[in-house]
Amino acid sequence: MKIEFLNTIQCVDCVEGMKKLPDKSVDLIVTSPPYDAVRKYNGFSYDLHETGKQISRILKDGGIAVMVIQDQTKNFGKSLTSFRTIIDWCDNIGFKLFETVIYKKHGAEGAWWTKRFRVDHEYIPVFLKGDRPQYFYKEHLKIPSKHGGKTMTGCATRLTNGETLLSKKVLINPMKCRGTIWDYVTCGDGTRLKHEHPATFPDKIPYDFIKCFCPKNGIVVDPFVGSGTTALAALELNRKFVGFDVSEEYCNLARKRLKEEGGFNQSEFDFSTEDGQDFQSYIPDQKYL
Ligand SMILES: C[S@@+](CC[C@H](N)C(=O)[O-])C[C@H]1O[C@@H](n2cnc3c(N)ncnc32)[C@H](O)[C@@H]1O
Repeated sequence: MKIEFLNTIQCVDCVEGMKKLPDKSVDLIVTSPPYDAVRKYNGFSYDLHETGKQISRILKDGGIAVMVIQDQTKNFGKSLTSFRTIIDWCDNIGFKLFETVIYKKHGAEGAWWTKRFRVDHEYIPVFLKGDRPQYFYKEHLKIPSKHGGKTMTGCATRLTNGETLLSKKVLINPMKCRGTIWDYVTCGDGTRLKHEHPATFPDKIPYDFIKCFCPKNGIVVDPFVGSGTTALAALELNRKFVGFDVSEEYCNLARKRLKEEGGFNQSEFDFSTEDGQDFQSYIPDQKYL
């Protein structure tokens, strides 16, 4: 099946757009849908259940879908969209929940700040299609261990029957996995151009996930691409991308960012036609390798 979309930003409802992609052709999804009615986005609507179904169809076995999401608060109650979506995608669509990363941000007080907590996190559920991730690399996600290089005693393992094994001396590794709370600074993130979009995520979020879950030359799709943050990270990391957004204004913004910040011109890479390359066999231009 020929692909018309590789390395392009497509202005279309993402469910309709993804229907044009072949089954099991994509390595990774990194995305962030609109958060309930927090932003108006010119009144466009979206359907997270249908989006999940298409994502599940186009992902390869072992492919991953990463979604940055937060709930709207109304009358002191959360909308629960994030939790409902996690359960829906796992129970009704067939994903496994590989992990939920907490994105810790350094937000300002925000609306109604005298009457509620200052919200300084978002959720990043990481969905897995199939038995196990086809690709996993986390060296770039490591942080220094507090006691790295020392030999310490402790950490006795507790068995399921409640007994503990005797503690022993262990040499602490200099670096360790950063865990499941990921800290991103939003202040100073991205360019003025990027922030013409009202609800972007930090450039580093797709960058970290792409490096972790998408092999070199693999394909990353963002169904709600907005200002193009995921597409730019894919480009920078020598992966291929497809971005969908229903808003012409944001598609043009994403294309402009790709051009100005990534030196990338969509028309040079429009494989919509006769040259016969298809999604799986496409080899990107040497300058992006
Ligand atoms: C939270 S923003 C994504 C921002 C993006 N992560 C970035 O860093 O720029 C959500 C985007 O979804 C788009 N959108 C809303 N409904 C859509 C739909 N049905 N299909 C595709 N895109 C949609 C909006 O226009 C908006 O740009």
